[in-house]
Amino acid sequence: MKQQQVLPAEGRLGIMIVGNGAVATTFMTGVLMARKGLAKPIGSMTQMDKIRVGRGDEKRYLHYNELVPMPKLDDIVFGTWDVYPQNAFQAAMYAEVLQEKDILPVRDELEQIVPMPAAFDRNYAKRLDGTHVMTTADGKMPTRWQMVEQLRKDIRHFRDQHQCARLVVLWAASTEIYVPVNEQVHYHLSDLEAAMRQDDRQHIAPSMCYAYAALMEGVPFVMGAPNTTVDIPAMWELAEQQQVPIAGKDFKTGQTLVKSGFAPIIGTRCLGLNGWFSTNILGNRDGLVLDEPENFRTKEVSKLSTLETILRPDLQPDLYGHGNDDDTQYYHKVRINYYPPRGDRKEGWDNIDIFGWMGYPMQVKINFLCRDSILAAPLCLDLCLLIDLAARAGRSGTQRFLSFFLKSPQHDYTRGELPVNHLYQQYTMLKNALREMGGYEADEEMD
Ligand SMILES: NC(=O)c1ccc[n+]([C@@H]2O[C@H](COP(=O)([O-])OP(=O)(O)OC[C@H]3O[C@@H](n4cnc5c(N)ncnc54)[C@H](O)[C@@H]3O)[C@@H](O)[C@H]2O)c1
Repeated sequence: MKQQQVLPAEGRLGIMIVGNGAVATTFMTGVLMARKGLAKPIGSMTQMDKIRVGRGDEKRYLHYNELVPMPKLDDIVFGTWDVYPQNAFQAAMYAEVLQEKDILPVRDELEQIVPMPAAFDRNYAKRLDGTHVMTTADGKMPTRWQMVEQLRKDIRHFRDQHQCARLVVLWAASTEIYVPVNEQVHYHLSDLEAAMRQDDRQHIAPSMCYAYAALMEGVPFVMGAPNTTVDIPAMWELAEQQQVPIAGKDFKTGQTLVKSGFAPIIGTRCLGLNGWFSTNILGNRDGLVLDEPENFRTKEVSKLSTLETILRPDLQPDLYGHGNDDDTQYYHKVRINYYPPRGDRKEGWDNIDIFGWMGYPMQVKINFLCRDSILAAPLCLDLCLLIDLAARAGRSGTQRFLSFFLKSPQHDYTRGELPVNHLYQQYTMLKNALREMGGYEADEEMD
């Protein structure tokens, strides 16, 4: 066995989270509870999964920390930024995802996590009215470049204050309005920097300031929302220049997880698809922000992309094309409805119109009563621990092996690369990356 050069996971790992809302507080509370032995990290691959290494008689199943050096939960220290000043205990209580009995045992630790003022522009999330935001001396919104400079200071200060050996920045803040990729601004690092310096508020979202600041400080960055942020060539260039890994975008939690797991059933059996209609009701603050059409657009683009690479009309026109020149693909629609009574307990409905032998139609209905933040929290942990691992393994740029966790995995669209959305192919990519980092051979054998 030839162990790849992976640096040990010694010292503290600082996880700096943009957003101190439902997902972030559920994630932090769960980690703090787990390390006290009061909860189990269910749904977390890094804590629960075992990967097979070797074949035949040599076959063994190893936890991630037996395969590669991984940080212990005890080594993690949290920090956040938010537009609301409440500490993580208050924010967890407000979010109402977890019951008091699951928060109170770690109240003291959560109270210590007080958000730093956010780099925020209300045009990017009109439904938020928080005032805990960065301002200039005369009370104005800072320029984009000033935001970057303050964020870099925040990161350095946090690293020193908590004596962190390594850091990760995770975006678990609201979905911003849709920022289409603009070749003049987003393709080259020099153009991106110029736009930041010119305070181009139209093309530079606040999230880009966080990502830019993190990468400049040599800190890996994970985008958990569908924001464009690091999904642009200029950021890939910066990540390579700084030799830092990045991952994005949009946590793959409820409906899209089901979609990327179920669509392979249709594709593998060569069944046809006429349409897939997904709708859901959601009542938390995320739902409120997504109720704004410009913010929903960002989410819609991310959610729609999932099926396209699994059920491909170009490869199977009889199954996935309507045979009509104007509309060569099955009908795919995604809706999110803000419905306050449900809070974080989202309910999703999928209606799938398929067809079989001789074209006879059939339907599949899926009704998923999930909990958004309960599904997202383990993904936060895994993404942070695995991007830290990637950094210690000397990897930089887009980490495709993390596609498993993401609804709209980053890929190089400038070269026509297609993302991998198929859940089981993503799982193979994840396992093989771990095997390789652990010094084992990558393979595609059945487990
Ligand atoms: N829960 C899921 O299943 C899931 C899945 C995929 C993606 N997401 C995404 O994760 C993100 C967080 O979801 P949530 O349910 O925790 O939402 P939330 O509204 O409870 O929390 C988001 C927090 O981000 C803060 N925020 C907004 N802009 C900010 C900025 N510029 N800087 C710092 N803080 C800022 C808000 O004030 C809010 O407290 C959303 O973008 C959501 O779309 C969630």
